[in-house]
Amino acid sequence: MMAEPRASSIDGKLAEEFAVPSHVEEVKERMTAFVQRHGAAGGRVVLITSGGTKVPLESRTVRFLDNFSSGRRGAVSAEHFIDSGYAVVFLHRHRSLCPYTRMFSTVNLLDALQFRDGGGGAASEGSAAEEEVVVVSQQALPNVAKVLRRYQEVKEAGLVLPIEFSTLSEYLHLLKAAAQALSTIGSKAMFYLAAAVSDFYIPASDMPEHKIQSSNGPLQISMKMVPKILSPLVKDWAPQAFVTSFKLETDPAILLDKARRALDTYRHQAVVANVLDTRRGYVVVVTPDAKHELVLTEQEVEEDVEIEERIVSNLTSAHTHFISQ
Ligand code: PMT
Repeated sequence: MMAEPRASSIDGKLAEEFAVPSHVEEVKERMTAFVQRHGAAGGRVVLITSGGTKVPLESRTVRFLDNFSSGRRGAVSAEHFIDSGYAVVFLHRHRSLCPYTRMFSTVNLLDALQFRDGGGGAASEGSAAEEEVVVVSQQALPNVAKVLRRYQEVKEAGLVLPIEFSTLSEYLHLLKAAAQALSTIGSKAMFYLAAAVSDFYIPASDMPEHKIQSSNGPLQISMKMVPKILSPLVKDWAPQAFVTSFKLETDPAILLDKARRALDTYRHQAVVANVLDTRRGYVVVVTPDAKHELVLTEQEVEEDVEIEERIVSNLTSAHTHFISQ
């Protein structure tokens, strides 16, 4: 079994080695107000992390280390959590996919819009340009009316609090602030850590200030291990919450073993295990005493069923049971 990291030492490392973003206190206040409003109404709140992290190689950053994550898992899951009665703090990578708008992320907006009179867009002589009416092509944006209606309902009810991060430092500090905000509602809080977080970074003290020069020849960099944030999260920051982490591998043969080891090490409630190539159609939800395989059939994939609906249904049931205990 992995040696269990000491939570308090990780907390100290976070403060010393990762620059604190200037807006963290202001964001923490917004998160606390959001959680308390929903908590006072007896509601549950889930913190979803989503997207990849950016790890700079230079202080005045020209280059950085990134990863594949699109943020789709987090964005789709957020919609299903809302449909299940949760309020959502959506801690996502800048420009990664967001709930509802993600459905149109690949659409060229200008191809989806047209002038109502069907004309080429030139304002008729004497008419002000602002009088022109632009309409949406339903063909280019299927279901747009339905999605817009739901988006507006959710926004009006204040059910999502979107918070952005770009760098690894921002992710770590904002996650800590979010955890402290969610801890105020005890077991009604859930963490759904779907972001693909870098395991490696270069400390500010080791980083060159200026652009690394290719004239110096091939680049060799040495990176340090990012502290596993699950440890202080589970032990110190939100000890009563229901915590779900994710485990991503490219080799299916080691996936379940790694998921179980994570549960043994951090002692949280669930791990969603997935393999890079099959992550849209197959995941395993591993808990300390069970393993649930969630699979989409070919027909379901063709019908655009999304596996996140099953993941969220599985975890919200487990959360209900957890709260009742
Ligand atoms: O965004 P998509 O393109 O839709 O893809 C979704 C996904 C594949 C990114 C998602 O399903 C997923 O698996 N996310 C987690 C990927 C990952 O970072 O796995 P990991 O094995 O490196 O980390 C395991 C867990 O430890 C993660 O929940 C992470 O939040 C946590 N962690 C990671 C690093 C770190 N320093 N501290 C942590 O606590």
